[in-house]
Amino acid sequence: MPFLLLYLVFKFIIFASVFINKVFMKRNLFLAFLFFSSIIAVSEDGIINLVKPNLNREGTVMQALLKRKSTREFSEKELDVKDLSDLLWSANGINRVESGKRTAPSALNRQDIDIYVIMLKGAYLYDAKENCLRLVVKGDFRALVAGGQDFVLQAPLSLVLVSETSKMGNVNDSRAMQMCAVDAGIVSQNISIFCASANLATVARASMDVEGLSKVLKLTPTQKPLMNHPVGYFIEK
Ligand SMILES: Cc1cc2nc3c(=O)[nH]c(=O)nc-3n(C[C@H](O)[C@H](O)[C@H](O)COP(=O)(O)O)c2cc1C
Repeated sequence: MPFLLLYLVFKFIIFASVFINKVFMKRNLFLAFLFFSSIIAVSEDGIINLVKPNLNREGTVMQALLKRKSTREFSEKELDVKDLSDLLWSANGINRVESGKRTAPSALNRQDIDIYVIMLKGAYLYDAKENCLRLVVKGDFRALVAGGQDFVLQAPLSLVLVSETSKMGNVNDSRAMQMCAVDAGIVSQNISIFCASANLATVARASMDVEGLSKVLKLTPTQKPLMNHPVGYFIEK
């Protein structure tokens, strides 16, 4: 009898250690991998965790304005998660945690602009509060952003600026709709200035397959894609 008990205890210890190893080591390895690598990693539940913005990046506003230009050629290299995180924070991240206000101003602080990130493996929505990207749909929908301008397909990702126009009030009021367009324009300029400063290639664009994107991104009738930005590294010459 004591022998049987000893055997069962022994068996339990083996089982427990295999279980702990499987569950925790996998997770720790995954976290360690994320910590040391700078590639964009998607978790099983479709979340891409971004890193804190690097507020000490080099470059001045004057230098960024000097370098700002439209670029329509991109290296295919995937964006590093640090560059992607800084790009999104600069575009429309939260710069005042107390009030939840953003790097981009918005009319009446309605914060109507959402940023969708269209990548090779899927379309994601930027969650500024949680500093992450949330999977909307798997698949490569960059052709819908291109809307006929094939250079867009070279870029590893495109940012699509979508206004939730109902946040501005009456969607039939043309003045309110102008404010949505202005808000998108400001986010677009944040993107252009960050890219110029960080040595990233981009172009502000209005062309895109609005209907196709609205369908794929499951937008409501009041959510309007207004602008987009293919973003990538410059082709080394
Ligand atoms: C509202 C807006 C819409 C634009 N749409 C497109 C577009 O659909 N496709 C494109 O290639 N460039 C587009 N552009 C980029 C302009 O063509 C570009 O800014 C202009 O030629 C000046 O060049 P620069 O940006 O290098 O100064 C757009 C720019 C703005 C401001």
